[in-house]
Amino acid sequence: MVKVPNIVVEPPGPKAKAIVELDTKYLATSTKASPLVVERAEGALVWDVDGNTFLDFASGVAVLNLGHSHPAVVKAITEQAGRFAHFAGTDYYYEVQSKLAERICAISNVPGEKRVFLSNSGTESIEAALKLARWSTQRKLFISFIGGFHGRTMGSLSLTASKRVQQERFFPSMPGVTHLPFAYCYRCPYHLEYPSCGIWCAKVLEELHFEDYLPPEEVAAMFMEPVQGEGGYIVPPQEFVQIMHATCKRHGILFVDDEVQAGMARTGRMWAMEHHGVVPDVMCSAKTLGSGIPIGATVFRKELDWGKKGSHSNTYGGNAIACASALATIDTIEKEGLVKQAERKGEHLRKRLLEMKQKYEVIGDVRGLGLMQAVEFVKDRRTKVPASKERDAVEELCFKRGLVAIGCGKSGIRLIPPLNIATELLDIGLEVLEGVIRDVNREMGR
Ligand SMILES: Cc1ncc(COP(=O)(O)O)c(C=O)c1O
Repeated sequence: MVKVPNIVVEPPGPKAKAIVELDTKYLATSTKASPLVVERAEGALVWDVDGNTFLDFASGVAVLNLGHSHPAVVKAITEQAGRFAHFAGTDYYYEVQSKLAERICAISNVPGEKRVFLSNSGTESIEAALKLARWSTQRKLFISFIGGFHGRTMGSLSLTASKRVQQERFFPSMPGVTHLPFAYCYRCPYHLEYPSCGIWCAKVLEELHFEDYLPPEEVAAMFMEPVQGEGGYIVPPQEFVQIMHATCKRHGILFVDDEVQAGMARTGRMWAMEHHGVVPDVMCSAKTLGSGIPIGATVFRKELDWGKKGSHSNTYGGNAIACASALATIDTIEKEGLVKQAERKGEHLRKRLLEMKQKYEVIGDVRGLGLMQAVEFVKDRRTKVPASKERDAVEELCFKRGLVAIGCGKSGIRLIPPLNIATELLDIGLEVLEGVIRDVNREMGR
């Protein structure tokens, strides 16, 4: 019986340190979270190069909703690689791509007849939506939200407003984007209280922006995450989304649902926007769609299509191995009832996190939907000053004790285990997390 987590050498051990050193010397990156050096992974378990076993509550940043190396995905990838890996799907035809297109359209939340454009990542799925919106509306402007994250390429970056470091020295990005405050009720940007605020944050678009300077008939699309991911797992009230959506509809503005992080069963619905009772004109998906093989998808109402040869394309979009992986992923979500599993286990996870909040002052807020939950740490519950250092300490201590968890927002930590994680493993991970939070809370003199 494997003891999980099982730390035999305090991580990073000697082999891990050597690889981190090599990596640091040559790899251009700015986002390493912790010195975890993976040798192999299966389900919710990860083994490092020094023989330590970790429990994974990060799922490759919401990519591995099925867990690592799911047998159905491994089989699909291997079989497809044996047939052919790539044949420029946008220029030629093959069945696995056509079948995936049909399948994504069938499960997507875009109503009516639709089409899907395939790419390689979340950011590319957003770039496609930007170009599609300009093409079909012949309008130039866009709206997105403070705290929102839509990617890091120049187009999507201009919508992103999650962390200043992602923007610094990159301006000017694409002009014509208005960033509105999001419904972050725990830290209301207008210093109001929900519900007595009357959802002012949603009404502000019509009553101030459109009234005073932004011509709505020149706005092509609004981009919104149903739950802000990188921004801190912020769940807006349903009314906020519904009012924004209705405002878009009134003015012929396309409503783009960015499901890259929250989608594909993670929140206890196939698409997180379902929680808000809103259907989009365009929906972007990536991350879990390929279970680790890069793929992005932009689904849209059929009549929005570029429809002109060569208008938008790429080399790798609809790559055969990625398509095979995505088909196996969708099959498995359905076969294993992962939507329901995420809802049920999410309730359990949330209950345990709320119990921790009762006990530890350092926890300011617990929020999320389904198995997409986060804890926000604060220096003081009254002032709500973000406890960023304490959050970093939680992340580091979790790693040292064999739990992989990753931060979000200014001082949050996200808990996003694979959706099919065994309840016993979920509880083991929560025990580790609670021990860490208890210690950090104590360190703060609480
Ligand atoms: C909501 C959302 N949209 C877009 C992206 C960009 O995806 P990628 O990193 O695959 O380009 C991300 C990535 O975290 C995301 O969370």
